[in-house]
Amino acid sequence: MGVGHCLPERVVSNEDLTQWMETNADWILERTGIRQRRWIDEDCGASDLAAVAAREACERAGVEVSEIDCIVLATLSPDHTFPGTGCFLQAKLDLPGIPALDIRNQCSGFIYGLSVADAWIRCGQYRRVLLVGAEIHSTGLDVSTRGRDVACLFGDGAGAVVLGPGDGSRGVISTHLHADGRHAEDLWIEAPGSRFHPQRVTEEMIRDGRHFPKMRNRRVFTAAVQRMPEVILEALGHSDLSLDDVALFVPHQANQRITEAVARQLGRDPERFYSNIEMLGNTTAASIPLALYDAEREGRLKKDDLVVLVSFGAGFTWAAAVLRY
Ligand code: UT7
Repeated sequence: MGVGHCLPERVVSNEDLTQWMETNADWILERTGIRQRRWIDEDCGASDLAAVAAREACERAGVEVSEIDCIVLATLSPDHTFPGTGCFLQAKLDLPGIPALDIRNQCSGFIYGLSVADAWIRCGQYRRVLLVGAEIHSTGLDVSTRGRDVACLFGDGAGAVVLGPGDGSRGVISTHLHADGRHAEDLWIEAPGSRFHPQRVTEEMIRDGRHFPKMRNRRVFTAAVQRMPEVILEALGHSDLSLDDVALFVPHQANQRITEAVARQLGRDPERFYSNIEMLGNTTAASIPLALYDAEREGRLKKDDLVVLVSFGAGFTWAAAVLRY
């Protein structure tokens, strides 16, 4: 029904990163397609960005915030270990009593959340679901040379949508969710972890940087390029649709080279795959709603367009959704 966004004002360019790590702006641009990202510059939680995005989504949907009857929030960078960031968001929106569900599926969090919201709306349990992807990565990155491969990728931001029942002519056609936990340690933050005894985190762990995100870069890259085309074809095949029926593919913004490789594999022009990674970096759960917001603003997404959302990320998890926008 409506989409909203929130980005911190501070712009961090590739050049800016060189003050903390040995890198160069051209390497980052060439290997990732990223020129800049937004990072917070004061205390601010994922729920703060989410609240701004949520209010804008409601406004654009023509729905009062007070009409929202369910919150689904996807994040891998929660405000606190518990309770869920959805609860902090609910308090900020002053919506006591309605459910607040947190989704922990990283880059696929938005599509996983969409699947849940769609099912609840279809079965009539809720009528105005607020679905948000919100992330603060910047305060959790190893910005030294040790962590430069991962740190150059991620940005902060939030995107939100309001979903409700329609007349059947527009909306979610199908969602397709996958995971393969054998690869859980290929992209993860190890500590703090409840599996460590007697303490979840020690000074030694912190010295070793085990609280920073780590990625087996090539393994993640290769799996993304395999799984994203696969799930796009699965999603279209489910409704006897073809690649030619799709007005716009909206991929999770992980790396421009991944997006281009996916387009190539499907024999499609990369122009048909929306991209705003150059200006925002990878915002994990927020990246698809932020892309929807920008695509709509740029006139690339219009009412009744057939759209495919697709993601791949930590877990591994991957997913696709087919929508009539
Ligand atoms: O959103 C979740 C899903 N995430 C993804 O799908 C991301 C998947 N992976 C990637 O996007 C890419 O693998 C990266 C962008 C993370 C890395 O690019 P790459 O082309 O795979 O580089 P690499 O890891 O193979 O590293 C190549 C070289 C290494 O140097 P040596 O060992 O060849 O001397 C790295 O140390 O590039 C070096 N390097 C850097 N150099 C300058 C790694 N990061 C940087 C950096 N600046 N920021």
